Amino acid sequence: MSKAHLLIVDDEPDILELVTITCARMGVGTQRAQTLAEAHHHLEQQAFDLCLTDMRLPDGNGIDLVRLITKQYPNLPVAMLTAYGSMDSAVAAMKAGAFDFVSKPVDLQVLRNLIGAALKLGAPASSATPDKQSQTLIGDSAAIRETRALIAKLARNQAPVFITGESGTGKELAARLIHLQGPRREYPFVPVNCGAIPADLMETELFGHRKGSFTGAVSDQAGLFQAAQGGTLFLDEIADLPLPMQVKLLRAIQQKSVRPVGSETEIEVDVRIISASHRNLDDEVERGNFRRDLYYRIDVIELLMPPLRSRPEDIPPLADHILSQIAETSTTPKRQLSDAALNRLTAHSFPGNVRELQNLLERATALADDIKLEPEDLYLPADRPIQARTKAVQAEEIDRQPLGDQLDEIERRAILETLDATHWNRTAVAKQLGMTTRSLRYRLNKLGLS
Ligand SMILES: Nc1ncnc2c1ncn2[C@@H]1O[C@H](COP(=O)(O)OP(=O)(O)OP(=O)(O)O)[C@@H](O)[C@H]1O
Ligand SMILES: [Mg+2]
Repeated sequence: MSKAHLLIVDDEPDILELVTITCARMGVGTQRAQTLAEAHHHLEQQAFDLCLTDMRLPDGNGIDLVRLITKQYPNLPVAMLTAYGSMDSAVAAMKAGAFDFVSKPVDLQVLRNLIGAALKLGAPASSATPDKQSQTLIGDSAAIRETRALIAKLARNQAPVFITGESGTGKELAARLIHLQGPRREYPFVPVNCGAIPADLMETELFGHRKGSFTGAVSDQAGLFQAAQGGTLFLDEIADLPLPMQVKLLRAIQQKSVRPVGSETEIEVDVRIISASHRNLDDEVERGNFRRDLYYRIDVIELLMPPLRSRPEDIPPLADHILSQIAETSTTPKRQLSDAALNRLTAHSFPGNVRELQNLLERATALADDIKLEPEDLYLPADRPIQARTKAVQAEEIDRQPLGDQLDEIERRAILETLDATHWNRTAVAKQLGMTTRSLRYRLNKLGLS
């Protein structure tokens, strides 16, 4: 690789000097600019591998430069120099497309790390696999268009992102898209469901362990942090993390290193953290269930996934997309929705959001006789009770399967129907089906409905 070049934009001679010297020691060439106009000029003249810009410049704001670069030179990483403690402008810069920021006075180690990371990230990545590219956020509502635009910007930076939103709104999908559209796309995306790992296994799951560190540790085992090396660690349902683990997680994030259970040595890890929860972390902090220091670390930028009922215009394109997906993996041709069925769908409130829509269309595809789906095929709450005819068809289908599968299928349908009838209120479902919420959760997991 030929020598890398950095464009430094700042009106303070001391900063220009400091950055130039630091770059020279790293074998990186620099071009200086003291105004936005000079920066524009250099950008037109020469290709750069990184741009570092101050916030306040004599002829304008550094954020405008970030916007211009994001638009006209999408492959050029840009980072912001911000005044000490002005987190707001750092966040604004990253929302505008900056990949990171350095606060003044500049810590040399931080600066070196940033330059190193930027040059690595800017290295051309081979194209993503077609499967990865097919993942998109469907919908043309203003809310989804905004979400899509924010995802594209977040993909360019390294800031921790916290994704909130109701169940089934696409939080995990958004996290994957941020990863896939960013410079880490060639490295792993590792999802971790913090609510599903038993508390006593959490530490070894996340950080790994050395052979012999506990009974059953028969060999060295890398943790999920290491599995995500170079890529993204997606900490789903982070509010469910027990407090003692929160301390350890914070430490790992701050130090960018992990110590496997039973090990004396630290292992450096370079991962981007994206976390999510359907709970309000602010409230959890107030209640003492979530550490404030960890909250500030992971919640630098928030992405809110809008509920489906706030954007009913997205329901038809989503339904069409989901029906195509279902057709791809099944032997039946793609189902169509009659106008009446589509009206019925767009009028539904979807407390379970896109996931509920998915489940509903899967069930309709499995049970309906015709290619065209009618309102009664959707089994929306007002359409109950299920007609006897369909019950008979269901029973016949079930009869042809092995006993275990038959039971699973009966259980699955009972749970799905009750979920629908209760608007996905899990407590009510458990009550109606005579099981504990714990046992319901277990079944939902087992049946892939959680
Ligand atoms: N806008 C969208 N376009 C296409 N597919 C979507 C969209 N939103 C959600 N989905 C799909 O809906 C399903 C549920 O999304 P996802 O798992 O990301 O939701 P979630 O918010 O993480 O839900 P939960 O809180 O239940 O974990 C996934 O299969 C996802 O691909
Ligand atoms: Mg999820």
